[in-house]
Amino acid sequence: MSTFEQLKTEAQRIADVKYAAAVLNWDMEINMPANGVEARSRQLATLSGIAFEMGTSEKFSNLLQAAKDDASLDALQKRNVELLWSDFQKAKKFSQEFVEEMSMTVSQTFAAWEHAKKANDFSLYAPQLEKMIALKRKQAEIIGYEKHPYDALLDDYEPGMTAAVLDEYFNTVRSGLKPLLEKIKAQPQVDNSCLHQHFDRQQQWDYSIAILKQMGYDFGAGRQDISTHPFTTNFAATDVRVTTRINENDMTDCLFSAIHEGGHALYEQGLLTGNYGLPLGEAASLSVHESQSRLWENNVGRALPFWKYNFEIAQKTFPAQFSAISQHTLYKAINRVEPSFIRTQADELTYHFHIMIRFDIEKALMEGTLNVTDLKNYWNEQYQKYLGITPADDATGILQDVHWSHGLLGYFPTYSLGSAYAAQYYRQAEQDIPGLNDLIAKGDNAPLLTWLREKIHVHGRFYNSQDLCEKVTGEKLNFNHFLKYAEDKYSGIYGF
Ligand code: CO
Repeated sequence: MSTFEQLKTEAQRIADVKYAAAVLNWDMEINMPANGVEARSRQLATLSGIAFEMGTSEKFSNLLQAAKDDASLDALQKRNVELLWSDFQKAKKFSQEFVEEMSMTVSQTFAAWEHAKKANDFSLYAPQLEKMIALKRKQAEIIGYEKHPYDALLDDYEPGMTAAVLDEYFNTVRSGLKPLLEKIKAQPQVDNSCLHQHFDRQQQWDYSIAILKQMGYDFGAGRQDISTHPFTTNFAATDVRVTTRINENDMTDCLFSAIHEGGHALYEQGLLTGNYGLPLGEAASLSVHESQSRLWENNVGRALPFWKYNFEIAQKTFPAQFSAISQHTLYKAINRVEPSFIRTQADELTYHFHIMIRFDIEKALMEGTLNVTDLKNYWNEQYQKYLGITPADDATGILQDVHWSHGLLGYFPTYSLGSAYAAQYYRQAEQDIPGLNDLIAKGDNAPLLTWLREKIHVHGRFYNSQDLCEKVTGEKLNFNHFLKYAEDKYSGIYGF
């Protein structure tokens, strides 16, 4: 066996353990009874300990070294080895104790969050969250950073990204979006009452399945379930699962959660199976991941061509609710812009402010300039400042997101970046695929999916997000593409 084949075999064995843990995680959120949490936390900690042991072992180190010194590797093998090597260098910085402590803390913090959210009481969550933040600060010190402890965490999700670059990015977002939101605010508000009627659970479920199929999601390599917070998880490109949630008084929650997670899942299903367990079989970064979900959710799912095709289907599915309204009424309703409390239900413009607030909070938590005990008040103040609204309770405010309970700090900014990438990628797809919007208007999403597969999915981690964007669109991330898209779209909807 060649040096690369030997390395690949071991990397895949490590991936087997990690994905087995991912299955347990999926089960924890979908099926597990409440009393199972303690045993499950233990099992997850053990598995992540085993994966860590394998991934930092002398055996793996020797295999890596041999492959690194092998001059006969082709360009793709070489890139796989490079990325495995840098992952290995990073992983080696952590002790096994730290890894197991993190896994255990994640399980406990997630349980505390679920409990507190149900009870609508942040104080039940705060002590556990405090432990998590302390551990994340410890993690940043272990990884090391040049300027800001937050940079160390960002690197996990968005290689090369820094707090300083994000500060600048969010300044552009703020100054670009503010005048647009002012223009919208000056116009009469769009009527979205057609969405806020009673919608049958089963009908909503069936509709979301049909839309996933239309997008090209392969149910032979996936399934959809219900969870509190919609997510996508993968155990291989041939087993990529999504979740959604159903709100009987708002059909957009289930529909757009399904489209969003479906976009994530199409990316994972589009990774090359031959690269299972290797970096080139993994997504490039979280912002690239989010660019795929946002592209399907916003640039496709909230645009006119999609509804030219789907309006009739929606009318047939929900005749009592939609038979008396026009296509344009529905299109405007699903694009209503209005400051709101829940990030996942926010329109695509004010959404960026939800992210900006979380970014500021995470940065301050890592700096130690904000304490968990002050978090709720700070959160409410920021919402008042940027969105002009104050959450009435904890569940619709500080407790709404699952991320911090999973230890995912540095993750939120990738949502905003993903939205910006999505606009830039969609614009490029329109240029590359003749009549793209006419095809979507006929319900034919295959050419778009093929384009995404060829341009983005198949590359895995070969390029980082900035280089990938430059390769596909000819320039680095440019928020002006999002602004142009938003101006064109919302001037039509709000009539300015
Ligand atoms: Co997403």
